[in-house]
Amino acid sequence: MGNKDTNRTVYNDQKSIGVFDSGIGGLTVANAINKVLPKEHLIYFGDTAHLPYGDKSVDAIRYYALRISKFLLEQDCKMIVIACNSASAVASDMLLEFFKGKVLFANVIDPLVQYTIEKGYQNVGVIATKATIGSNVYREKLKTKDQKLKVNQLATPLLAPMIEEGFFNNNISQEVIKKYLSDDSMQGLDSLLLACTHYPLIRSEIELYYKEKVQILDSCDVLAYQVKEMLSKENLLSAKLSKSHKYYVSDFTQSFEDTAKLFNGSEIELEVKNIW
Ligand code: DGL
Repeated sequence: MGNKDTNRTVYNDQKSIGVFDSGIGGLTVANAINKVLPKEHLIYFGDTAHLPYGDKSVDAIRYYALRISKFLLEQDCKMIVIACNSASAVASDMLLEFFKGKVLFANVIDPLVQYTIEKGYQNVGVIATKATIGSNVYREKLKTKDQKLKVNQLATPLLAPMIEEGFFNNNISQEVIKKYLSDDSMQGLDSLLLACTHYPLIRSEIELYYKEKVQILDSCDVLAYQVKEMLSKENLLSAKLSKSHKYYVSDFTQSFEDTAKLFNGSEIELEVKNIW
């Protein structure tokens, strides 16, 4: 891997960072990484053929995550970012064990949990897919760090498919959001964790619902800084961006192409890849 013979930061690793999610959600993470680390080359994989992950079994999500990680490793990635809470919740430990010593992994859950604790929030709400809420991972990780903290979780399974279809910032999305957030469990919070990488795309609608009385948190920026720290520690930062980012999907969808273009600010190289 990188040059470890010096204490200075060495920018010498031109390999890519792989980022994956079920669909467009992980683009919110890729976008944050691109802002913090503009010289890093990103390879994105959106598993559009299998979305939503949130409704799938643990075994199915693990299988998808394993296969995509193998593919990203074959593309010579130095790091793989699991830009999906559902996959981070149920497959992160398995991936770490399976690819031990071969590639660095980052997940979206740990940096957000750490940030919530550091900020001292006490009444924390968590909205996410059924897979993430069912795993109980946020409650367990938050409570392990601070027993007194109150954690209210709510599965909001309609949100990711709605966003994936391009339904946000309109009357329909506002009604769906209102229906979920008016649940008793989502009252009296000081913070709300957007524990699905699709949800930053409806962040402003959620802020509007709570009239800015609840702090809305997501993992994008905190994770991007963690990625920088991890690469820097291993002397794996890249010196320059030599080619444009690569976007793979397992099935073509117009909404993916539109959102990826929106984030990229220009044309994107989108390739349909059957890796199954
Ligand atoms: N964006 C993903 C997450 O963070 C997956 C959403 C889904 O496919 O259900 O959980």
